[in-house]
Amino acid sequence: MTNPLTDLLNERQAHFKAGATTPLPKHYPINDLAAKLHPETQYLRITKVVDHGPNAKSFYLKPNPNRGTQHLAYFKAGQYLSVRFAIGNSRVTRAYALRSTPQDAHNDCYILTIKLVPEGFVTPYIFDHWQVGTTVESSGPMGTLTYNQFRDQSHVLGIAGGSGITPFLALAGAIVDGTESFDLTILYGSRRHDNILLGTELAQLAKQSDHIKVVNVLSDEHYPGYEHGLITLDLMQQYADLNHTSIFVCGPNALNAYVTQQVSPLHLPGGRLRQELSGQVPQPQETAKIPATVTITVKIQDTQQTVTANTREPLLVSLERAGIVVPSACRSGECGWCRARVISGRVNTPKAVDYRRTADQKFGYIHLCAAFPESDMTIEVPVHDLADQFG
Ligand code: FES
Repeated sequence: MTNPLTDLLNERQAHFKAGATTPLPKHYPINDLAAKLHPETQYLRITKVVDHGPNAKSFYLKPNPNRGTQHLAYFKAGQYLSVRFAIGNSRVTRAYALRSTPQDAHNDCYILTIKLVPEGFVTPYIFDHWQVGTTVESSGPMGTLTYNQFRDQSHVLGIAGGSGITPFLALAGAIVDGTESFDLTILYGSRRHDNILLGTELAQLAKQSDHIKVVNVLSDEHYPGYEHGLITLDLMQQYADLNHTSIFVCGPNALNAYVTQQVSPLHLPGGRLRQELSGQVPQPQETAKIPATVTITVKIQDTQQTVTANTREPLLVSLERAGIVVPSACRSGECGWCRARVISGRVNTPKAVDYRRTADQKFGYIHLCAAFPESDMTIEVPVHDLADQFG
């Protein structure tokens, strides 16, 4: 009588004997591919700078092989780079959308168009220091303001304000070169016709494809051929059937809040309104009881530091001001890179930017870029390969 277990063991032994004796590879090509597509750090070099008037510039970036980046990572149109800066004692990041196309990345070129914010911290530094030959460090491409045929409608209404137009340049470029296939109508809000950023480039792309339409909307000026006023629900409905349209928004906080309020009567299903902030998460409603500054004790592994935080700013900014290096990328609450744990104290995450997982909310985790302290606090920042982030 045969014993099934013995038969199984014999069969297994036979397979072992028949198997190859070469050792398993230590290196898999799939890992190389993953590293190329999702590099933690890209070392770049500026090869060209183009002025768009006194307040905006485009920077052309190539790989910097001297630091180990041979080729640029491919990306989905609409994504951004998190660029790293060491300014004085502060180590900060800023997210800038790629305005070049994924095809350009195949040719090892990225383009970032950056608008000067004179009272800002980082853009004045960029305008003073970035020139041909400057080396730059960034993350790999990130972000979700991208087209997905399984999630999105075949018509996308893009709503942009100011430098928030840059991801739409990439999306339009990708439609023109055939990388993406959908209809894109862009409502582009500016104050006056003479401060429309990248208007000529956008018009050229629209000329090259029947699938792209650009509508300029001027808030402060009547101008022939342009819409006047704000990007209201009525205006959106003039250019799109919102029952069968995905809405992508990129621009300042005020634009995001306004569009959200305008479309709220439609009760759009989840995912049909997709937003990306440019700029800092807006502070929550002022509350008289909250002091102007509080003390934050920051624990990272075995170290502990104390910083003074402004309660009108996200915690991430206060930590960066104090020279504490914290991982960050989107700076709008979404990616989770700046996740930290609250040990004690009160903090407010505005609902509009609260992308935390339910478990994180329950167990006291916050995203530092979207969290405003309301009392003295102790927080724990997880150990991360921070040294890598700023070279
Ligand atoms: S940096 Fe993305 S969630 Fe804070």
